[in-house]
Amino acid sequence: MQPFFITTPIYYVNDLPSIGHSYTTFACDTIARFQRLHGRDVLFSTGTDENSQKNIEAMEKSGETDIASYLAKMASSWKQTWLDLHITFDDFIRTTEDRHLKAVERFWNASKESGDIYLGTYEGSYCVGCERYVTETEAESGVCPFHPNRPLSKISESNYFFRLSSYRDELLKYYEDHPDFIQPESRKNEIIRYVSDHLDDISVSRSADKLSCGIPVPGDETQRIYVWFDALINYMTVAGFGTDDERVKKYWPNTTHVVGKDIIKFHCALWPAMILSASKSDPLLKELRERGHVLPKKVFAHGFFTIDGVKISKSLGNAIDPRKLEPVYGIDAIRYFVFREITFGEDGDFSMNRLQERYVSDLSNTLGNLVHRTVSMSRKYFDGKVPDVKPNEAGNLLFGEKTFSISQGIDSLEKQVYSNLDEQLRIDTALSLVFSDEYIGTFNLIRANGYIEETKPFKLIKENPEETGRVLYALLESLRHYAWLLLPIMPSVAKKMIENLGQDFDLELKKGIKTLQLWGGLQPGAVLPEPEILFARLPEE
Ligand code: MSP
Repeated sequence: MQPFFITTPIYYVNDLPSIGHSYTTFACDTIARFQRLHGRDVLFSTGTDENSQKNIEAMEKSGETDIASYLAKMASSWKQTWLDLHITFDDFIRTTEDRHLKAVERFWNASKESGDIYLGTYEGSYCVGCERYVTETEAESGVCPFHPNRPLSKISESNYFFRLSSYRDELLKYYEDHPDFIQPESRKNEIIRYVSDHLDDISVSRSADKLSCGIPVPGDETQRIYVWFDALINYMTVAGFGTDDERVKKYWPNTTHVVGKDIIKFHCALWPAMILSASKSDPLLKELRERGHVLPKKVFAHGFFTIDGVKISKSLGNAIDPRKLEPVYGIDAIRYFVFREITFGEDGDFSMNRLQERYVSDLSNTLGNLVHRTVSMSRKYFDGKVPDVKPNEAGNLLFGEKTFSISQGIDSLEKQVYSNLDEQLRIDTALSLVFSDEYIGTFNLIRANGYIEETKPFKLIKENPEETGRVLYALLESLRHYAWLLLPIMPSVAKKMIENLGQDFDLELKKGIKTLQLWGGLQPGAVLPEPEILFARLPEE
């Protein structure tokens, strides 16, 4: 199976992680866990974007004076936050690391050799908030449309330019030949319009005496590399560009970038153009290009969310630190909430009320209760054990309209959840498949709860203990399947579910997903322990 590389954007360290940054990181963590569970060799990276003027301004505001120690302190807080949130990243890159300087130099030199970097004069406006040159049309009213309160820097200086405009046709052709490159579909049209109409050459360096940060331009100490040009290369640095060619060959061919919609142009236009340029001269990139693997496989841009209807902003101080929510809800409930509540790819709102509502109704009352009821009834009626019945007979029971058997319903649920998580990265759809009643023919949580109402095991036990055993076995075995389905999104909850079924999580995991997916993995007659509560009651307000 081809190795899999997934990346978050590298975050600026002018602030600490908010729930917005966590959203992207949770998404990548979910996909990385999903791919690992399916046997893939995964490289999952995140990190910090450190060569930015924003960071310097933030340091000055904080009263510190030593940039290196400020950057190190902030980078370590970001890393610690991801560790506290149980993010399973394999690499944490800082763009001030030596390995990155090597990669950037090699990349710059290759692009220069390809004839795509030339000296010119830049005159215009720059927005430090965006770390971007703002066009005249955009700055019509004298301010940046995204940062109206920040004065624009007027610049007139000699800079290096990147011949972005000469990649228009190649980019458009790549989008056409690779319809899955930009996702979701709505973003693709935005990029195609931008590349067709506005793809001008861009300045990729600044004069060193105007800028106190940035990687020096190779061979020209008077200039520093534009922060985005360096930042995008981080992905290649992680793959091993500049330090380990074999590693690049292994991981780069199947790369997925997950980003917010704010930075999609950089990832879908500038970045591929940069790679195409460097691949004309760099032997390793040339080889990858010849094999059709030089450009990333996918860029998925998700939407932005507001908090209780208000844009997240530093000045309003309304950014939520996800670590503060953790003691009350647990990390998994936060992960569940953001992906169940907000369509992945569209804008949405993070509302504390909705979080509480979903915690109680979906998690505690639907999932938590189903597990508790099913395990408790089995323990009570079957001597503390999984009913000793034939798994296939239990799986053949019919549900709902009685057109599908339970094991068929589980199988169809699994197939749909997997296909949503694998190619399309639709974590929201995967969750709604498990938690909503709109899907016919799948035996999901809602159906399972309905099935208890339909069969009433608490009455049936008096009339037909054997049938009750089959009903409860089918429900317990379904819970086992839900646990593995939910694992990438809610890893701790999934583990507890497996333990509530009396199984050893680590031993089970070793069997591999193909085996875990077979109907009947739960041993008839196995001991069922006292079930542990999955979702604790919320404290009274
Ligand atoms: N350093 C650049 C990225 C360079 S990648 C080569 C940057 N950093 S950032 O710290 O500003 O992070 C931006 C990213 O954080 C967004 O693209 C998005 O992934 C995430 N989000 C920040 N706030 C968010 C919301 N309110 N909602 C959703 N995602 C948000 O840009």
